[in-house]
Order: sequence, then structure tokens, then C-alpha cells
Amino acid sequence: MSEVEKLYEGKAKIVYATKDPDILLAYFKDDATAFNAQKRGQIQGKGEVNCQISAWLYQYLGEKGIPTHYIDQPEPTQMRVRAVKIIPLEVVVRNIAAGSLCRQTGLPLGQALTEPLVEFYLKNDELGDPLLTRDRIFALNIVTPGQLDRLKTLALEINQYLQEFFNACGITLVDFKLEFGLDRDQKLLLADEISPDTCRLWNRDESDPQKRVMDKDRFRLDLGQIEAAYQQVLQRVGETFTRQNAN
Ligand code: TMP
Repeated sequence: MSEVEKLYEGKAKIVYATKDPDILLAYFKDDATAFNAQKRGQIQGKGEVNCQISAWLYQYLGEKGIPTHYIDQPEPTQMRVRAVKIIPLEVVVRNIAAGSLCRQTGLPLGQALTEPLVEFYLKNDELGDPLLTRDRIFALNIVTPGQLDRLKTLALEINQYLQEFFNACGITLVDFKLEFGLDRDQKLLLADEISPDTCRLWNRDESDPQKRVMDKDRFRLDLGQIEAAYQQVLQRVGETFTRQNAN
């Protein structure tokens, strides 16, 4: 990778240019951060696990008709993706109350939401990724009303498909964060990653509120057994993906 240009280094990934301007290479790191990088560490093998899980989930979603940036996975920690301009919104979908929703609204942890909740946060570390309103999104000129409606529709569709998939893995999809980008033709594509870093995933075989956690909350909340939990998600997602593709 030495002869290719590094375009961007984020907290969990590095993005490189390739000879083709429409194709980028994303390298997934073992580095982990939480609370806007106030907590830092490493999760051994995370780059490979998250790259592989994301690759399977993008292929699954692509087969369902969701437009994604995924092309292929040339190495265990590398993904070739379509070049997009990332929209600076973190699109969060919640099925069950957890995390900042509980902190900010007082809803009890684990309460099922009657309807999936779609929220938009500003992707800006300096400002601490604040929760936005629809009108703030337009005031900031981030997307048009039509694009925002399309983002919400896509996020809800992706939630349906991911819930079906994770149910088949014996995992409850509590909530997750998506990012989208626009390609050269202004086509909206699902981008970034979908992994235990960006989802809350609860093991349906466990009722204990700490033992059931299979995602980055193990790191955020110092619950231990982080690598084992990520490996368990990798194994279950791989088995489900293989089973579904054999049918
Ligand atoms: P939250 O409850 O902390 O707002 O997180 C909601 C979901 O979004 C959860 O699945 C974790 C994910 N997330 C990210 O992927 N990146 C982030 O920076 C944050 C804050 C949350």
C-alpha cells in the first residue's frame, strides 16, 4: 500500500486512493475509541473482524437492493469501495432504548420502542456529534428535504433487513449507526461500516444485561471479554451469511 496515497485517517479506518479515481481502499484498524475519543484502546483482531462482518452485511444488503459502496475485500483488513463524498450525518436507528437515548430521555435500558426511531447527528468530533433537528439539517444545508426523506426511508429499510439477518444469528439488533455518501453522479450509497463498533448487539441466549452485550459497549463500559464477543459475532454472521447463500 506504500505507493498509494493516504486520503484520510479516521479513528477506526484509513482511506487510500487507488489508480481508479472512482475506487478507494479502506483499511480497518484495531484501534478503538469511545466518548468522542476520550477513551482510547485497541481491540486485537478488530480490523479483520469488522472488515469481514461489514463485507458480508453489505453483500447481503446489496442483494436486497440497498445501494452500497462495497466492491470487494482484497485482504482480510481491506475493503475496496466506490468513492463517495460522505454526507456529514450519523444516521442512528433504534429498536430498543439504550445508550444516549436512555441518558437523554430517561427511557429505561432495554425498553422496546413501538416504532423504530431514526435520528440524525452532526458528524463533527469538535462539536461532539450533536443531535440535529430536521430544521437544523436544512439550516446547515447538509441535504435537501428530498434527500433527507430518502435517507430515512433507506435507514428504515436497512433496519428491517438487518433485524431479519441478526434474528437469524440469535442476536437482537438494539440500535446502529449508518453513514451515507454521494458518488460522482450524486447517487446515494450506504458507506462506512456496519460492525460491532457501530451497532448494539445483544446475545439472545443471555438475559444478563452485561453478559448479553456483544458490541463496543464491552469496551465503552469496561465489561471485559471484548475480543471474544467480536469473534462470536463474526462466527454467527458468517454462519448465517453462508447458510443464506447456500439456499
Ligand atoms: P448512542 O446511544 O451512543 O447515541 O449510540 C447509538 C448507536 O450508534 C450505537 O449503536 C453506537 C453507534 N455509534 C457509533 O457508531 N458511533 C458513534 O460515534 C456513536 C456515539 C454511536
